[in-house]
Amino acid sequence: MTKTLPFPTPEPESSRAKGAADHLIAPHGGTLVDLLVSPERSAELKAASRDWPSWDLTPRQFCDLELLLNGSFSPLTGFLGRADHDAVCAEMRLADGTLWPIPITLDLPRELAGKLTAGKSVLALRDPEGVMLAALHVEEMWEPDLAASAQAVFGSTDLKHPGVAHLLQRTHPVFVAGRLEGLQLPVHYDFRALRLTPAEVRAEFAREGWRRVVAFQTRNPMHRAHCELTLRAAKEAQANLLIHPTVGMTKPGDLDHYTRVRCYQAVLPRFPQHTAKLALLGLAMRMGGPRECLLHAIIRKNHGCTHFIVGRDHAGPGNDSKGKPFYGPYDAQEMLRSVESELGVTMVPFKQLVYVEELDTYYPVDEVPEGRRTLDISGTELRQRLAEGREIPTWFSFPEVAEELRRTHPPRHQQGFTVFLTGLSGAGKSTIASALLVKFMETGGRPVTLLDGDIVRKNLSSELNFSKEHRDINIRRIGYVAAEITKNGGIAICAPIAPYDSVRKEVRATIEPGGGFVLVYIATPIATCEERDRKGLYAKARAGLIKEFTGISDPYEEPKDADLVLDTTALSPEESAQEILLYLERQGYVGASMAAQV
Ligand code: PPS
Repeated sequence: MTKTLPFPTPEPESSRAKGAADHLIAPHGGTLVDLLVSPERSAELKAASRDWPSWDLTPRQFCDLELLLNGSFSPLTGFLGRADHDAVCAEMRLADGTLWPIPITLDLPRELAGKLTAGKSVLALRDPEGVMLAALHVEEMWEPDLAASAQAVFGSTDLKHPGVAHLLQRTHPVFVAGRLEGLQLPVHYDFRALRLTPAEVRAEFAREGWRRVVAFQTRNPMHRAHCELTLRAAKEAQANLLIHPTVGMTKPGDLDHYTRVRCYQAVLPRFPQHTAKLALLGLAMRMGGPRECLLHAIIRKNHGCTHFIVGRDHAGPGNDSKGKPFYGPYDAQEMLRSVESELGVTMVPFKQLVYVEELDTYYPVDEVPEGRRTLDISGTELRQRLAEGREIPTWFSFPEVAEELRRTHPPRHQQGFTVFLTGLSGAGKSTIASALLVKFMETGGRPVTLLDGDIVRKNLSSELNFSKEHRDINIRRIGYVAAEITKNGGIAICAPIAPYDSVRKEVRATIEPGGGFVLVYIATPIATCEERDRKGLYAKARAGLIKEFTGISDPYEEPKDADLVLDTTALSPEESAQEILLYLERQGYVGASMAAQV
C-alpha cells in the first residue's frame, strides 16, 4: 500500500525573506530564458518591421513561440537550427549535449522562405490578428526530411499518430532558425490570472515557501481518481502540488479547455488548504509518449517543480492504423527513469488507479486486495452517459465536476441539431421543411431557422450560379450557418438540392461536433418531380432554356449515408415530417410528446 505522509509545512517567514527563489530547483540548462526585449527596443523593432517580410504563426507555432519567449523551453533561445534539430532527432540532445527530446522548429512555405536571406533578413512573427510578437533574425534555412524526423522522434510514420500527421501533412517544407527577440507575449483573454509564466510560478512558490513541488500534467478533466493520485503523489514526495494542465493544443477530439479549467477550479477546494496551486500551460502537445514525457518534465523543472507525476500511457497517441498501441503503457516512465538523475527532476510514477466498491477506495491496479471487484468508467462510456443525460456516479467524479461537464454536454433533448433535406428540384423538400418548421415552432423551446434552397439563393448566395463550384460554395455557406445555429442550441432545417456527396459529407463533419445532424434524402423519382413541375423549370430545362439543371443536364449523387430516405410518392408531406420527428425522437433530440402531436 502507498504510505501516507503529511504535507510539508510552510517554511518560516525568516527563511522566505532571504531570497527563497534561490532555493528553488535551477532551470534546465541553468538559466531561465527570457526573450522579451525592453520597451525601447520593442518600439525600435516595430518601427523597423515596416520593411520586413511577415509570417502569421500557425496555432502550433503560436504556442511554441509563447513557451520560447517566456522561458518554459529553457535553455532554448529560439527555434532549433539544423545541428540542434539533427542531434535532438538522433540522440535526444541538443548539439551541446543538453538533454532535449522534441525539436521545436519554425516551418515556412517555400514561397516565403525564398524571399529570405540567411544572415540578412529579419522576419516579423505575428499572431492571427497581425500583431507582431517577435523578430526572427534569419540565420539558417533548410529543408528537413520530415519522414525521418517522424521516425526518429515518434518512432513511427503512421499517420494515425497526431504528431506524425502534423509533421507529414501540416508542416511547411522549410525550417528557419535564428536569434529571436520577443516584443510581447501572446495575449490571452481567457483565465488570465491562471496563465502564469515560469518566472511567475517560481515567484509564487518562493512567496509561499514551497521548495519541493510535484507537478501534474493533464489534458483531461480531473475526476476522483486523478485527485486521489495527485494527493498520494504529493504525500509520497512530501511536496506541494502544482496542477498544471495543458491548454494550448491537445489531442484532437479532447474536451475544450474552457470546460476543463472550470472543472479544475471546481476540484481545487478538495485539496488541503495551502497545498495545491493551479496554473495553465499553453503547450502544443505532440502526443509523443516517452519523448514528450521528458519535454513535460523539463518544462515543469523550468517552472520550479522538483517532482513530476507520470501515470499510465503518458501523452499517449492511442493506437496505430493496425490497432496496436504506439507505445507501451509504462514506456514513458522507463524513459524518464533513465534520465532522471541527469535531469534532476524526481519522477513520481503511478499505475492506473481503479475503484474498489466494497472498500470505497481507489487502489493502483496491481495492489487491489484479492477477490475485490473493481469499477472504472472509460472516456467513451462517460461521453455516452453525458449524451444520454445518465448519472455520473459520485465514486467516479465529484458532483461539481459532473455539473460542469453536463453544462458542456447537455443531453440530446437540450442540444441543437440540423435536419438537412437533399433531393431533386420538386422532390418535396420545401413543403416537408415547412411542415417541420411549424411543428418545432409549435412546441417551442429552441429557436428554429429554415434555410430553404430558394430563400438562400435570394439572400445568402444571390451572386452564385449552378456550376459545381458555385453549388459547393452555396452548400458550404448553408453548412456554416447551420453549424453556428446547431452549436448554439438551435434547430436548423436546410432544404437545398445539394447534389454532391463530398460537400454534404463536409457539412456533416462541420456540424456534428456541435450537435445533431440528420441527413434526409427526399428520394422522389425524377419522373414524379417532372410530372409535378410546380415551377415549370423541368419544361424549361427540357427545352434547353435552363442549363445545368439537376437531374436533366446536371448530376445528382444519391446519398449512401442518409439517416432517413423518404419517397413523397408514397408519403404525404405531413407523413414525411412525422417520419423525421420519429427519427429525432429515437435519437433523443426531441421528446416523445412532440412526435405524437403530428
Ligand atoms: S444547389 O445545387 O443545392 O446549390 O441548388 P439550390 O440552391 O438548392 O437550388 C435552389 C433552386 O434553384 C432553382 N434552380 C435550379 N435547380 C437546379 N438546377 C438548376 N440549374 C437551377 N436553376 C434554378 C430550383 O428551383 C431550386 O429549388 P428547388 O426548391 O429545389 O426546386
